[in-house]
Amino acid sequence: MNVIFTKLTSAANVVFRPLATGDLDSFRAHLLRLNKQDRYSRFEGSVADTVVADYAEYSLRTACSTAYGAFIDGALVGVGEVFFFGELPEIALSVDREFRRQGIGRRLMECVLQDAGKFGFDSITFHCLADNCGVRTLAKNFGVKFQFDGSELIGTIWTNQELERC
Ligand SMILES: CC(C)(COP(=O)(O)OP(=O)(O)OC[C@H]1O[C@@H](n2cnc3c(N)ncnc32)[C@H](O)[C@@H]1OP(=O)(O)O)[C@@H](O)C(=O)NCCC(=O)NCCS
Repeated sequence: MNVIFTKLTSAANVVFRPLATGDLDSFRAHLLRLNKQDRYSRFEGSVADTVVADYAEYSLRTACSTAYGAFIDGALVGVGEVFFFGELPEIALSVDREFRRQGIGRRLMECVLQDAGKFGFDSITFHCLADNCGVRTLAKNFGVKFQFDGSELIGTIWTNQELERC
């Protein structure tokens, strides 16, 4: 298993590694911990707990996706997912509130970009609500190109950039 150990500016020690089906309970719990606003941002709409729980299982079990987790003291605090079923790989990110603004989302983005690159894709896409400042700012650091689609933004990020290894 590919495991890296990174020291964040906050001095928290975070392990980034691919998630396996054995991480399902932690992944489900992480997604269910997102508050109403974050859940709305992550799924671009209101979704019930049962839908979130089913989604977690689908995401980890389908052969069309990979996911990376950020762990602090063994606890899953953030996830980056990349789905390979469209024309371009599509990514999604989430980080527990208390661990935000410490670079975890950025590292997860690097992990999923590298994964997409390994599979031969030169770019990835993601969808977010136009008012999602967090992911918009994060993506800008990766040279994102945005396309507006109503209240939604579609971002494209190239994989052939200098990335810290995952
Ligand atoms: C988007 C999200 C994953 C960012 O995670 P994070 O760990 O806080 O991100 P980072 O700490 O790596 O931040 C990366 C950059 O974005 C900036 N940023 C992050 N959140 C921000 C916010 N709410 N407002 C403004 N800037 C923000 C950081 O300052 C940093 O910029 P810098 O490197 O220039 O300082 C997190 O806010 C989240 O889980 N949101 C809810 C789910 C969601 O909206 N997912 C995206 C849709 S798929």
